[in-house]
Amino acid sequence: MDFKFTEEHEMIRQAARDFAKNELLPGVIERDNKQEFPMQQIKQLGELGFMGMMASPEYGGGGMDTVSYVIAMEELSKIDASASVVVSVNNSLVCWGLDTYGSPEQKEKYLNPLTTGEKIGAFCLSEPEAGSDATSQRTTAIDKGDHYVINGTKNWITNGNSADIYLVIAHTDKEKKHRGINAFIVEKGMKGFEVGPKEDKMGIRGSDTHSLNFNDVVVPKENRIGEDGFGFKFAMKTLSGGRIGIAAQALGIAAGAYEMAKEYAKTRKAFGTEIMNHQAIAFKLADMHTKIEAARHLVMKAAWDKDNGLDYDLSGAMAKLYASEVAMEVTTEAVQIHGGNGYVKEYHVERLMRDAKITQIYEGTSEIQKIVISRSILNM
Ligand code: CAA
Repeated sequence: MDFKFTEEHEMIRQAARDFAKNELLPGVIERDNKQEFPMQQIKQLGELGFMGMMASPEYGGGGMDTVSYVIAMEELSKIDASASVVVSVNNSLVCWGLDTYGSPEQKEKYLNPLTTGEKIGAFCLSEPEAGSDATSQRTTAIDKGDHYVINGTKNWITNGNSADIYLVIAHTDKEKKHRGINAFIVEKGMKGFEVGPKEDKMGIRGSDTHSLNFNDVVVPKENRIGEDGFGFKFAMKTLSGGRIGIAAQALGIAAGAYEMAKEYAKTRKAFGTEIMNHQAIAFKLADMHTKIEAARHLVMKAAWDKDNGLDYDLSGAMAKLYASEVAMEVTTEAVQIHGGNGYVKEYHVERLMRDAKITQIYEGTSEIQKIVISRSILNM
């Protein structure tokens, strides 16, 4: 057994850490306030190879392992979870899904610009009445011979407006239930495709979340991903990997808040000494550190499972469940350690606390992770 990262992993960590400090940190509070998408930074991340880390080099990807990806996600999320969710959706939901299940023609056309950051991707599964219950899709894609016609509405779509390429899950035959679902590649600009209003969110406010409307959108048949009826499995398998990325995001949010709280405790004085010398604070930091380390082990194990061809549905769900709980707990304690300063924007930890909450909700709520975990351990 070896818990040591490779030299390459350490280099990726350093590169992501430097980028987060130099490029993401300077405007992060302002972007959060203004709900401004970090477009310039995402383009830079694309140029540096962070937008298609695991995708095949043949299509512009980095050909890296999942461990490298989660290391980068952790470091970026310590500073800016709004930017890191864009990285996560593009890498694990869009690029990975296309690279693994797309046709050579689809990859040539769509994966190349996504891996380089020239274009941004979005994953469109959730609907007003199909969030957790993913089989209850109302969006339809009617087979018209050489094309499909898509009608419906998708909700809470990350990168909703900033994306160029959308993977859309829709019913082609409702009677077949989940076996009558397909995934399609839709391009921005296709007639009848409309971006709805932007959500005014509690956290990850720099990322853009929108509803999307599909009104008789004509999609060529060659834009269907995989065999007819493969869409639900495509969505589930892609989300299983995506959950490892979100677990890493939660880990990063927790670790970022912890590091800030620790530094604050070393300098802030109360009752004649630095607050770290009060056991009430020191014990909080000890708990935070321990929980983060436990979360990191679960996240790395899930990534390692995926890299080694092992099942990662269970380990990914456990990593996401636990890391997102830790993110909430640790960010709340980080605000507490900062006292009054923790409640103001300048100190960053209140933002991290707001950002942490979404990690318990998107790519499957904590309750969904418990369904996946309990079914797996009970063989249900
Ligand atoms: N991999 C491959 N196949 C899978 C799978 C997986 N991980 N999970 C299920 N399947 C297959 C099953 O094998 C089954 O296939 P067969 O009938 O051929 O055997 C089929 O899918 C149906 O499985 P279930 O009966 O288990 O399906 P279910 O309806 O009970 O749902 C669920 C299971 C886990 C609750 C699922 O609905 C789920 O994950 N829901 C949450 C959806 C979700 O994560 N939404 C988030 C939206 S995306 C997002 O947030 C992105 C973003 O913008 C950040």
